[in-house]
Amino acid sequence: MKRLFAAAALAAACMVMAACGRRGTITVECESEGSDLLRITNPARYLLLPVEEACGEARVTLVTGGRDDVPMDVRLAHGEVDYFVPFELPEDAEEAVVRVEGVEPDAIFWEHVSLSDSFDTENTDIYRPLYHHTPSYGWMNDPNGLVYKDGEYHLYYQYNPYGSMWGNMHWGHSVSCDLVHWEPQPLAIGRDTMGHIFSGCAVVDRNGDAGFGRDALIAFYTSASDRQVQCMAYSTDNGRTFTKYEGNPVLTPFDGLRDFRDPKVFWYEPAQRWYMIVSADRQMRFYSSRDMKQWKYVSAFGDGYGAQPSMFECPDFVELPVAGDESNRKWVMIVNVNPGCMFGGSGTEYFVGEFDGREFVCDSDPDKVKWLDYGKDHYATVCFSNMGDRVVAVPWMSNWQYANNTPSRQHRGANALPRELSLYTMGDETYVAADVAKEVRKLRRRSSRVSDITVEAGERMLPETVIGKSGGAFEIEMDVTLDDGGRAGLELCNGAGERTSIYLDIFNRRLVMDRSVSGVVDFGGYSDDIAAATNNGFEMAPDHYQNDFALATWGPLALCEGGTYHLDIFVDRCSVEVFVDGGRIAMTNLVFPTQPYDRVRLFAEENTTAHFTGIKAYRLAL
Ligand code: FRU
Repeated sequence: MKRLFAAAALAAACMVMAACGRRGTITVECESEGSDLLRITNPARYLLLPVEEACGEARVTLVTGGRDDVPMDVRLAHGEVDYFVPFELPEDAEEAVVRVEGVEPDAIFWEHVSLSDSFDTENTDIYRPLYHHTPSYGWMNDPNGLVYKDGEYHLYYQYNPYGSMWGNMHWGHSVSCDLVHWEPQPLAIGRDTMGHIFSGCAVVDRNGDAGFGRDALIAFYTSASDRQVQCMAYSTDNGRTFTKYEGNPVLTPFDGLRDFRDPKVFWYEPAQRWYMIVSADRQMRFYSSRDMKQWKYVSAFGDGYGAQPSMFECPDFVELPVAGDESNRKWVMIVNVNPGCMFGGSGTEYFVGEFDGREFVCDSDPDKVKWLDYGKDHYATVCFSNMGDRVVAVPWMSNWQYANNTPSRQHRGANALPRELSLYTMGDETYVAADVAKEVRKLRRRSSRVSDITVEAGERMLPETVIGKSGGAFEIEMDVTLDDGGRAGLELCNGAGERTSIYLDIFNRRLVMDRSVSGVVDFGGYSDDIAAATNNGFEMAPDHYQNDFALATWGPLALCEGGTYHLDIFVDRCSVEVFVDGGRIAMTNLVFPTQPYDRVRLFAEENTTAHFTGIKAYRLAL
């Protein structure tokens, strides 16, 4: 069936109406004011729900009569249909009943709701990345449950299948054999009567400590309603399906804390125990356990440390050798913070120190702030479990300031490229380098080399063949050396005059990415966060801030050895990621050019001479 006629008047009058289609029949029955039942006989696979993002949330429930029926919040179309989302109906049932609450009788929802056995996830969105991980449709935020098992990488994620804005948190799921080609999987963990399924982790339980068998995959997530508690689910089919533990929750805050979420569990060999780190307002709390069901409080870290503009979220805790020296290993606590980070909104900081199974002691002074990425679209970054010595992190590529408003519709949300973390020292401090994971090289297709170029107070266009026809998916790397001070770098441009510039500002010792004229930028909004950013010592030149999106971000060149800087830049349909000197500065920013960037301009400003050497470009494709 394609249309449902004149439901408005009928629904209002509590009458019964029906319409037939290729498969299935929908009858609308008014239950009470604002609540209608759709009775669907011989149901197709999906009820296609028309969505209008500007509308408030209505509620849609698959009525089974059981106690587990959960209403889903959906922005059902009132005056205009932006897109459809599929609402799955029970297979092989004679009748399905769906309750719809909060839709006005005159809404066009009633004309457009329909049944279908298929749902088109074709890539129709010009901003859909060509080689970054995205859900096939719907909304995505944080990566969850990153784990490697039996040759597969699992990427679960915060997912709303009923619209491209935040809501109805489920865990979506994708699987990859190489960290770059991702296969979408059915929903892994669904929102339930305890609440939304917020962020968390997954571990391989080698010895079956939790009682679900050896090698079971155990997921931990926050069940979020008017309280936040930690829950567990297990999978014995390599992460395809999960069963929620009947004894949930496994951990509640001892002090009734409201913000208590995003558990990360790891095996701590010296104590022969599992540990959990959970964000608890402006701290991270450690717990330990033998069976992953009973958790004992150990200690907390965070008070007064680093940037504390607001609560901590999405922790991770990993151990790494310093500069490859296995006899000198340190622990890194990853802390995601929102809002109030250096360029406004969300950001990821970290602390390096020692951990003895009881306490984490940070090596640095409390006021020292270390950022994992100097862009604006790097958040909720956490690392894979069970990858041996490698520590590979995956960020969510957006910022809560505007994540719900970016100019894409069919889907919203992508992950940045996976990054390999390592430690290096500068003076007395130990820092994390976040370099693009080596697996990403597999995406390199045609490569071009460009001979060395010196630009003196001017500009040079790279030959069109270098990245032309790449469809906006390419990598370009080069070494840049400036003779004296000044500013020099490159611009990614298109025929519409839109550009993103990436340059070294030697006088201010910064690597800058300016996206203020990068394409569509007007969805950015204005917030007070920028003041918090300035408090963190990240002043922005006024012309670099037009709105929360139209601005420039920068990273300190002091993190690099200096002289010559190696830039490795990844461009996709809606993002630019820069890795300087093996990830000592990583910078991740969304951009929305109205046509893909298809040319590169090198430039050196007045009184500046810059040498661009070792220039290589690659088209990238899956
Ligand atoms: C971070 C976060 C988490 C939470 C999730 C909800 O982006 O706020 O703290 O678990 O998103 O979707």
